[in-house]
Amino acid sequence: MYFEEARLESWMRDFYFDTDLDIGSSGVHPYSFADVRRLTGLNGTDLDAVTFGDSWTLGGPGIRHELADRFTSGRAERVMVTHGSSEAIFLSMTALLRPGDEVVVLDPVYQQLAGVAAAVGCTLRRWRLSFADEFRPDLAALRALVTVRTAMIVVNFPHNPTGVSLSPEQQRELVTIAEGAGAYLVWDAAFAEITYGREPLPDPGGWYARALTFGTFSKVYGLPGLRVGWCLARPETLERLAGVRDYVSLHLSPLIELIAERVVRNGDRFVAPRRDLATRNRALLAQWMAEHAADVQWVPPDGGVTAFVRFPHVGDGAEFCRRLATKHRVLLVPGECFGHPGFARLGFGGPRANLVEALDHLAGHLGEAHS
Ligand SMILES: Cc1ncc(COP(=O)(O)O)c(C=O)c1O
Repeated sequence: MYFEEARLESWMRDFYFDTDLDIGSSGVHPYSFADVRRLTGLNGTDLDAVTFGDSWTLGGPGIRHELADRFTSGRAERVMVTHGSSEAIFLSMTALLRPGDEVVVLDPVYQQLAGVAAAVGCTLRRWRLSFADEFRPDLAALRALVTVRTAMIVVNFPHNPTGVSLSPEQQRELVTIAEGAGAYLVWDAAFAEITYGREPLPDPGGWYARALTFGTFSKVYGLPGLRVGWCLARPETLERLAGVRDYVSLHLSPLIELIAERVVRNGDRFVAPRRDLATRNRALLAQWMAEHAADVQWVPPDGGVTAFVRFPHVGDGAEFCRRLATKHRVLLVPGECFGHPGFARLGFGGPRANLVEALDHLAGHLGEAHS
């Protein structure tokens, strides 16, 4: 297998720890372990009771049951706990795809969702989201891309980086398209629980047997450092993923599983405050965008905490973001990391004061780029 450079992760490696104001990340403001203990009631006795033996391949019963109660009507046999949803992506594509398979992926897209399939040797067909169409997913275009050779359709809604999502009717149509081809449907729901003026979309695994739904604590739960995600799928599919896990990670740590179990049991306590903050930040950002409309354009996101903004007058977007990081110590992710120069991913999930300060710097930097 050959893996192309993961450009977003490289960018983060270069700038995440060397900037002070983060408007590049796709998650909400992270919680501390003190927050976790306060919000879950986890105490020293609970921690002391953990034994560092092996855990179960698909995850311990406690965390699987909590995830099942929250996301799959109690069907724990449909749950696999993973090391972030990155591992769910890797296991699914390496277990279920073969060289030469056709795979339909969104464009732009979180790179790993396309890159692992490419490394397996699949032929990628891009389902494009275009700024000119306000990034609206075009189901007719998807239909035209899907053939009997399509082995997997890979989507992520609400979408990173644009924040666009589907209506429930469009989601059903998408599933019908996957079903018509007999394709696996990867439904990456990393941002499912933060939406604006619409209900979160359901797990398509509820009515489509070949669906794999991914989730993670890294985004709307504010716990990226916990490294816990999950894959919801039928048991025979999870068994195939487990066959790859036997070669790479075996299982999660029982300590991490205990913390994750308590987090998911108290999930709303983590998500609700961050969702409120994101809603207020999105309104603030809308106002800022209106004031700077000559220099920066956007499509207000339907969900998640990122927008894919366009700089009509900036020539070299990567250099623009590099200078913003080194001179202003503000983290923004250039569209180059998603294969779309001229754009940048702007994250608004952080503390309000940071967002205000970072946007001030960005406005100044745009002014300098002009002069
Ligand atoms: C859409 C999407 N899926 C999956 C991931 C992987 O995240 P993690 O492994 O932290 O769950 C990311 C991270 O940015 C993402 O944006």
